[in-house]
Formats: sequence, structure tokens, C-alpha cells
Amino acid sequence: MIIILAIINGLNLKNSLKFFKKVVIFNIIRKLLLTRTKEEVLRMIRWQDKYALGVVKIDEQHRKLFEIAGEIEALLNDEFITDKYDDIVAILGELKDYTIQHFKDEEEFMLSHKFPMFLTHKMMHNDFVEKIESIDLSKVDNEQNLYLKEILNFVGEWLVEHILVEDAKYSIN
Ligand SMILES: [Fe+2]
Repeated sequence: MIIILAIINGLNLKNSLKFFKKVVIFNIIRKLLLTRTKEEVLRMIRWQDKYALGVVKIDEQHRKLFEIAGEIEALLNDEFITDKYDDIVAILGELKDYTIQHFKDEEEFMLSHKFPMFLTHKMMHNDFVEKIESIDLSKVDNEQNLYLKEILNFVGEWLVEHILVEDAKYSIN
């Protein structure tokens, strides 16, 4: 089916097979990323003391971001809500607004302390906001839980990685 679509869209057979392989590999990776158990996900989005940077305001904001990830997880596993669309829109709005404010505060802190990798770090922040903004809500509506899972994995992984590796560079602990 994918090959037929690719041919219809102007790709020759060789390129169609390449396209098909890419789609298959992409879907395998996508499934692997989403096969964390519920416990593994809960562990990933739980605040741990090792995330503390020693900057009170930033640590509080990071904790809040983990709480928002917890809200996404709770919504994902809520079996009593049949249509989660409005809640998804609300949580994504909260995530976006809070992150923008947090990044602004974090960047001000970095500037005031003359952090050397400021621009690179700011770009990572921008990428995160762009990713959240790029979520196509019309697609979310069709497979709500799948998208919630993807969003949760993305936010959880990003938070842990970003705090432990990138933000840790300005840690005072
Ligand atoms: Fe950061």
C-alpha cells in the first residue's frame, strides 16, 4: 500500500522501496520508544533530588514541569474519560505557557551569570517550544492515547536529559 502510494506520488520503484524501508524503520523505533512499562514511565517523570541544581527558583520550576508530565500521565491512564481532546488541549497549553516562562527565567539567570554556552542552550529551549507548537491537534483527536503517550515520552525524556546534561552545566551544587 505504502509502495503504491509512493509510486503514485512520483517515486520510482527503487526509491519507493527506500521510502518503504524508512517508514518501517521509523515505525519500529516509534513503537520501541513507546513500549516503556507504566512503572518505567512513572519512574522517568518522578522528580529526583539529583535533578536539583541548587538554584531555588529554577529547581521549583523544574519540579512543576515534572508535575505537568504527571498530569499528562494521569490523563493517559484515566479510563473514565472517553473524549480527552479538551483536556489534551488544556494540558498542552499549560505545558507551553509554563515552559516559555521557565525558559525566560532560566535564560535571564544564565545571562546574569554570563553563562558561556547561552545561545546553544537557548536554541534547545526554542526547539522544545517548537516541538510542542508543532503538535497537530487535528491528528491528536483520532488517536488520543497514542499521542498522549508520545507527548509524555517526549516531555519525560527531554526533561531528564536536558536537566541532567545541559542545565547541570550551571549547577551550583
Ligand atoms: Fe535549560
